Amino acid sequence: MNWRKLRIFLVTVLVLCVIPATRYYQIDVPLLRFLGGSHVDPLSLHLSGEFVENNLGTEQDADGSVTVRMIAEQYLFVPHCILVPAGVPVHLRITSADAVHSLVFDGTEYAVKVLPGAISRAELQFPRTGEYKTVCREFCGAGHYAMRSELKVVPRDQFPALRPEERGNCAAQ
Ligand code: CUA
Repeated sequence: MNWRKLRIFLVTVLVLCVIPATRYYQIDVPLLRFLGGSHVDPLSLHLSGEFVENNLGTEQDADGSVTVRMIAEQYLFVPHCILVPAGVPVHLRITSADAVHSLVFDGTEYAVKVLPGAISRAELQFPRTGEYKTVCREFCGAGHYAMRSELKVVPRDQFPALRPEERGNCAAQ
C-alpha cells in the first residue's frame, strides 16, 4: 500500500469514527440495536425487570456515584421528580414505554434520546446545587408540550441514604 492510499484509508476511518462520536447522546435506533445488549420489553416495564416501580429514581452506588433509572412515557417522566447529589457522577438509565422521546435538562447540554425497546445510557454530573426543569425535546404526540418534570441537585453531604420507596420522591425533601 502506498502513502496516498494509506492517507485516504486513515481519513475514511477518522470520518467514520466521528459520526457516532458526535451522536453520543442522540443514538439512533439501528445503531443501538446493532450495539446490542440493552434490550428491554416496553410492554412489561412496570411488571418485571430493571424498570419496575420501586427500582426507579436515584440509587446510591458503593463508590459514591449514583444511578438514576427513569421511564419516559406519553406524556410524563417517571419518577416525576429526581433527586441527585452535587458533584458526583450520575449514571442515567432510561427507556420508553411507547414513543420516541428526548430527555433534556434545561440549562445544561445534556440531551438523551429515549426509545422503546432499548435502554439509553448517559453519564451526567451536576457541579452545583439547584433545580433543573426536565423537558421532552422530541415531538411525541398531543401532550408533548406538557411533558415536563424536575431534577433537584442537593449538596452532597445532604443527600440522604434513600430507601427504595423514597428514591423517586423529591417532595419528601
Ligand atoms: Cu415526550 Cu415529547
